[in-house]
Amino acid sequence: MKIQRHLAPTAAPLSLRDLLRALLGLIRGRHVRAQIESEIKRYFGVGHVFLLSSGRAALATIVRALAATSSRRKVIIPAYTCFSVPSAIVKAGGQVVLCDVDPHTLDFDFANLQRVVGSDTLCIVSPHLLGQAADIPRAKAIAKPYGIPVIEDAAQAMGRKIKEGWVGTIGDVGFFSLGRGKNITAGSGGVVVTNSNDLAAMLSKIYADVPEESFLRRVINAVVVCAMTLLIHPRAYWLPAGLPCLGLGETVFDPNFPMRRLDGIRAGLLRTWRQRLEQSNEDRVRHAELYLSGFRQDEKQLDPVRVPGVAYLRLPIVMPGVQEKQDLCVAGKNQGLGVSALYPAPISKIPELRAMFEGQQYPGAEVLADRLVTLPVHHYVDGHDIARICRVLHEIVSSAQHLPSDRLRRLTERPAAPSKIREAHASNRGQ
Ligand SMILES: Cc1ncc(COP(=O)(O)O)c(C=O)c1O
Repeated sequence: MKIQRHLAPTAAPLSLRDLLRALLGLIRGRHVRAQIESEIKRYFGVGHVFLLSSGRAALATIVRALAATSSRRKVIIPAYTCFSVPSAIVKAGGQVVLCDVDPHTLDFDFANLQRVVGSDTLCIVSPHLLGQAADIPRAKAIAKPYGIPVIEDAAQAMGRKIKEGWVGTIGDVGFFSLGRGKNITAGSGGVVVTNSNDLAAMLSKIYADVPEESFLRRVINAVVVCAMTLLIHPRAYWLPAGLPCLGLGETVFDPNFPMRRLDGIRAGLLRTWRQRLEQSNEDRVRHAELYLSGFRQDEKQLDPVRVPGVAYLRLPIVMPGVQEKQDLCVAGKNQGLGVSALYPAPISKIPELRAMFEGQQYPGAEVLADRLVTLPVHHYVDGHDIARICRVLHEIVSSAQHLPSDRLRRLTERPAAPSKIREAHASNRGQ
């Protein structure tokens, strides 16, 4: 464990004031929750909002609502995504069907989607991975002949607006996550949004049976959020980062997660959600642009296609090879740079699910599992960090072969120096 400035790969800060406001939710929880629901409706221009204990609980609620009026059970999801996604499908009684992804866009491989979709498909879960917007109109066009609804997984893209509208509101139904490292956080939480009255009627029936969080659980949640707020700061993050037993950043397949409504304390934490969301996404856009201006030509060409003006949750970059990915992650870890891989394997390789996908190939998902690295863009990142990360990246990308370990050690120990990026950041802040 090294005591040093240490960035989390992703973070959504909460202030002391937010924590104090959460106390109001302890006494007037239902009222606060109803207020947040109507604010979300107004902001995103949707007719119906349901607040749950997590993004996966939100997705499971949607799948249950769809399955309640259909005999179909197959749910198409990306072959590379958060393991919570298949967990939610299995929890809801669905059958996971995989569609390969395109490392160039992080979206579905649409030729593959066309092949896997069928008259027994219940729904398609379309990804907005890391804030990179999926092509929902294209997914809808493929789904339409079969009468299949498209669920937008906007867990990582709350507050992103594209030409079709707010991400999460373009498909038939969408959900956001309010988990620890998302665009904004309530410690954990999930939001279902839809404009479909029919679907909302089914969602209301399912939601009516979702229990409230117990008092003990609410208190535990509040303590966890307080600890998280303190420890996510770069001056303190070395501590949780050095404790593997916490399993930070791990993605697990576990369909036995609790399904609850969002509790009052968490709703209380969302009192200033609009300002926080806008600020958080502005920081993300600005930091992503600093990276893009710091990347050299060959790095700009690495997948996926990245464009300025996007509030990435973490900036994705597909490294030239597996070794380069590992080198960047090791250097990032040693220097506390918040650089990290995303999910360790395609969904088809999750031990509990792999028998279902025996003999099937997902080459796009394999590429991402082997070579995708994410760079931090959150509130706590500064220009100095971005300059250091870009410098480590330059060294690794420009070395065509595996770095000898002594060179890697030098790389991780080099003191940081000011750079153009740092200056650019300082002048941005001064504006
Ligand atoms: C793409 C994606 N979908 C769904 C989820 C589930 O959200 P939650 O962690 O709030 O259950 C996550 C969580 O990290 C996610 O990244």
